[in-house]
Amino acid sequence: MTIDRQTHWDQRYAKIGYQNVSWYSPEPRSSITLIYRTGATTSTSIVDVGAGASLLVDRLVAKGHTDVTLVDVSRVALDEATDRLPDHSVELTVVDVLEWEPDRQWDLWHERAMFHFVNTDEDIEQYRQLVARSVVPGGHAVIGTFSENGPLTCSGLPVARYSLERLAEVFSPEFEHVWSEHETHITPNGDAQEFSWVVLRRLPG
Ligand SMILES: C[S@@+](CC[C@H](N)C(=O)[O-])C[C@H]1O[C@@H](n2cnc3c(N)ncnc32)[C@H](O)[C@@H]1O
Repeated sequence: MTIDRQTHWDQRYAKIGYQNVSWYSPEPRSSITLIYRTGATTSTSIVDVGAGASLLVDRLVAKGHTDVTLVDVSRVALDEATDRLPDHSVELTVVDVLEWEPDRQWDLWHERAMFHFVNTDEDIEQYRQLVARSVVPGGHAVIGTFSENGPLTCSGLPVARYSLERLAEVFSPEFEHVWSEHETHITPNGDAQEFSWVVLRRLPG
């Protein structure tokens, strides 16, 4: 575990509170819409990577999803998310994704506002390979990052920014492009941040 990274994010959530962080969204509309665009049902296995304390898990559990895994380097964030749930009906993994070796695969990989912190060529390649081996053939990845017009930093850290085309390209050739769109996220302070979203399908092999 990269302690510095864990400490950074734990402190962020503990000091600011999950509803006041710039990435807080009272309704994870793009995530939900794009997850169902893949044809997902309540039995689709879903991993939310860099899940933080997002309300996505609340919505998935309320809809009856039975196989949801949350992954994040911050235990504070994951505790916050699971404390809100009626029971601990999801799997939790506290890990730095760049050190993670999952022992299973999922039908759907979801990630919002985490991948843009992975910003060296070596780490991007490592993350790309992780996604490719963690999604079943025919499964999907739904990925949302800052767009080319998005902020240069977030949470005091530098970020990478992606056009829709570039984001899909990163995950080829293992994934084919299904859908892409921009979203304007409004932070709790009222600032606008543009996101690039892609839906990708895992090819066989
Ligand atoms: C900007 S927040 C987004 C959280 C959530 N996806 C959302 O939409 O609300 C980024 C999240 O990624 C997590 N994170 C950052 N780098 C990570 C890493 N290398 N491994 C695992 N989690 C990481 C942080 O702890 C944080 O919860």
